[in-house]
Amino acid sequence: MEQYVIKGGNPLVGEVEIGGAKNAALAILAAAVMTDDTVLIENVPDVRDTNVMLQAMESIGVRVERIDRHTVKITAKNVNGHVIEDDYIKKIRASYYLIGALLGKYKKAEVSLPGGCNIGSRPIDQHLKGFRALGAKVDIAHGMIIAQADDLKGNHIYLDVVSVGATINVMLASVMAQGVTIIENAAKEPHVVDVANFLNSMGANIKGAGTDVIRVRGVETLHGTEYAIIPDQIEAGTFMFAAAITKGDVTVKNVIPKHLESISAKLLEIGCEIEESDDAVRVVASKPLSHTHVKTLPYPGFPTDMQPQITVALALSNGTSIVTESIFENRFKYVDELTRMGANIKVEGNTAIINGVSKYTGAGITAPDLRAGAALVLAGLSAEGFTTVDDIRYIERGYEDFDIKLKSLGALIEKVDSARDLQKFKLRVG
Ligand code: UD1
Repeated sequence: MEQYVIKGGNPLVGEVEIGGAKNAALAILAAAVMTDDTVLIENVPDVRDTNVMLQAMESIGVRVERIDRHTVKITAKNVNGHVIEDDYIKKIRASYYLIGALLGKYKKAEVSLPGGCNIGSRPIDQHLKGFRALGAKVDIAHGMIIAQADDLKGNHIYLDVVSVGATINVMLASVMAQGVTIIENAAKEPHVVDVANFLNSMGANIKGAGTDVIRVRGVETLHGTEYAIIPDQIEAGTFMFAAAITKGDVTVKNVIPKHLESISAKLLEIGCEIEESDDAVRVVASKPLSHTHVKTLPYPGFPTDMQPQITVALALSNGTSIVTESIFENRFKYVDELTRMGANIKVEGNTAIINGVSKYTGAGITAPDLRAGAALVLAGLSAEGFTTVDDIRYIERGYEDFDIKLKSLGALIEKVDSARDLQKFKLRVG
């Protein structure tokens, strides 16, 4: 089984190129089935989740042509079904976007109930409420979500919780509905805006994405387009925290600094220096880190997908910090692993009380999910001695070439799949 082996202690230094946003890509790829014309999408990250999405699309006759590692051409003219029961698709959360996209275009969809990271109960009631409000009949049977409609009609939909997935899914389903749909209490994440921009470039009429009220005027058809996905806010944030945690100096390139403001603000608070330019952010950690409090919130608040990474940094900071997770109720499972590396963290409900320690010590640990897995790798990079990280398939769901990018910044990390390779790495780096 593949694992990462890390020898900690090297500060990360240098520049790293950030890829396209995974969570925007997943919705945009699904949305590409909504036209019969060919769509060219650039800056698609080559990660497991996007590849699973493309594979699921191919299973219903969508033509996927890879132009290069990050560019795909999608033609959905010959879609020959609306049932997606692929074994892999169950494992990714964003499979639900195929329901909105297929329902919106073909008025019917049958997709396996979504999986994704185990970070707490992840209901999709708001998605289903939105589809029903547009006139669809929605049932759950035999592990499938079955949605169908004679006609979809615009409606006024108030989301009970701020949900990225439900906002995007209702946008997808309503884009070709008759009349006007108003989504209130909409999520404002950069990828919601990116999906709206993509749909508009195909001829949709969506206004207000990025605010909490989105207005969709239905159009008859959508046409082909060429579109480049925005940079990944969370990949960028992870490398920014890698600089803080390893006392390094890292510049993340090809980013939109505005999307990183809540992350930069916390890094400043804990004593890092930040330099911003048009499409890059440099993080320098030359002083000991200091404590702070943070609560995860919908955008523009501090992202829940950065919660494990900031916790790993705060557990190495002077003093006591408090991290409150307000989006997912079970997102501190990785804390047990971090404790095995020497962290002093007490979790009570959705709050972690952290007493900073001066260092981590290497250990054999397991990635419990995507973002926590990446955060534990960062802990390993700063730890004394060797750390092995198991279940790296979680990390590979959302980070392209994570180990290779870290190596380019001076990290001693290797992906190995045998005890022999592990030993070789240990002998090589001493
Ligand atoms: C997306 C991201 C995920 C990120 C999360 C929050 C993708 C593929 N995943 O997940 O990485 O952590 O946004 O930024 O883009 N909720 C309901 N009912 C619903 C939908 C959501 O109660 O129908 C709740 C959830 O349990 C959670 C909160 O709303 O407490 C926010 O979830 P949501 O924004 O929908 O997250 P996802 O779209 O699943």
